[in-house]
Amino acid sequence: MSNAITITRPDDWHLHLRDGAMLKAVLPETARHFARAIIMPNLVPPVVTAAQAAAYRDRIMDALPQDMPFEPLMTLYLTEDTDPDDVAAAHASGLIKAVKLYPAGATTNSASGVRDFARVQPVLDKMAEIGLTLCVHGEVTDPEVDIFDREAVFIDRVLDPVRRATPGLRVVMEHITTSNGVDYVKANDENLGATITTHHLIINRNHILVGGIKPHYYCLPVAKREEHRLALRAAATSGDKRLFLGTDSAPHTDANKEMACGCAGCFTATNTMSILAHVFEEESALDRLEGFASLNGPAFYGLPANDAKITLTKGDTPVEYTDKIITGEGPVTVFDPGFPLHWRVDG
Ligand code: NCD
Ligand code: ZN
Repeated sequence: MSNAITITRPDDWHLHLRDGAMLKAVLPETARHFARAIIMPNLVPPVVTAAQAAAYRDRIMDALPQDMPFEPLMTLYLTEDTDPDDVAAAHASGLIKAVKLYPAGATTNSASGVRDFARVQPVLDKMAEIGLTLCVHGEVTDPEVDIFDREAVFIDRVLDPVRRATPGLRVVMEHITTSNGVDYVKANDENLGATITTHHLIINRNHILVGGIKPHYYCLPVAKREEHRLALRAAATSGDKRLFLGTDSAPHTDANKEMACGCAGCFTATNTMSILAHVFEEESALDRLEGFASLNGPAFYGLPANDAKITLTKGDTPVEYTDKIITGEGPVTVFDPGFPLHWRVDG
């Protein structure tokens, strides 16, 4: 068994960096290991226009420590008022790499999301024409639908109809959490991809609920049954080029997580690569980690893979990660996989 692997420097195809003091604190946690990331636009207010995306990109670059190279790949938050020409111009200038669809009310800061899909059809048609990717938060918000069924129902009720109505549209199903999501990707063509988070490879719903409620394991889409976690692990380690890493690392302060109505989100940026090496080794698939974390994502987005490399080394003593990072807004708990991590990232 090899104790070291060198892979192309990874990218994160779904990341929440926030703004202000939180941005400053969490950005190095990603830039330390990742070359690029697709930056989620769910700020308050959301990043809706090209001008807002350009200003947010500047704030990210201002927050970046000088010795850390990192490229934020910007996105626009799709609303029913989004202008197809503004989207097309932002794409043509190279500013944005995707547009993000949140069904209204589905998750943190998604109130401006889409209710009536007919109203965004002109934007989707334009995106299909210019080859711009739609990143989808795939959960219905219908209160009648059980939270554990919301992804599967979304595929049938929303995603499949949207894709049929918009031939050629490139879609990333983000943070898939079910075997239904895996099956839907596998049943479709190369215009459909999906990201898988780190934490959904580790936790199932028992981790959140058994033996007392664990707010730091609560995220959206919520972790499902064990059979779904196993389907995700099999998919992530299968080598399928349509599946790639999107951590959905989503920082919230401990005060906002550990309360009567706690926020959704797991903060995994810090230890994601160590956790992934552990998972891929367990699945006898270390040789596929590079595809999942570093190659499949850029290929889907039509971007070159990074030139730089990182080396992961397995040691006898566990790697010590901080259990919380300190931010100007308060401490943020780092995702605890519940087992010691022996893979450390060098360079
Ligand atoms: C995200 C956040 O906190 O912004 N939370 C989460 O649980 N993943 C929103 C999201 O991506 O759904
Ligand atoms: Zn997210």
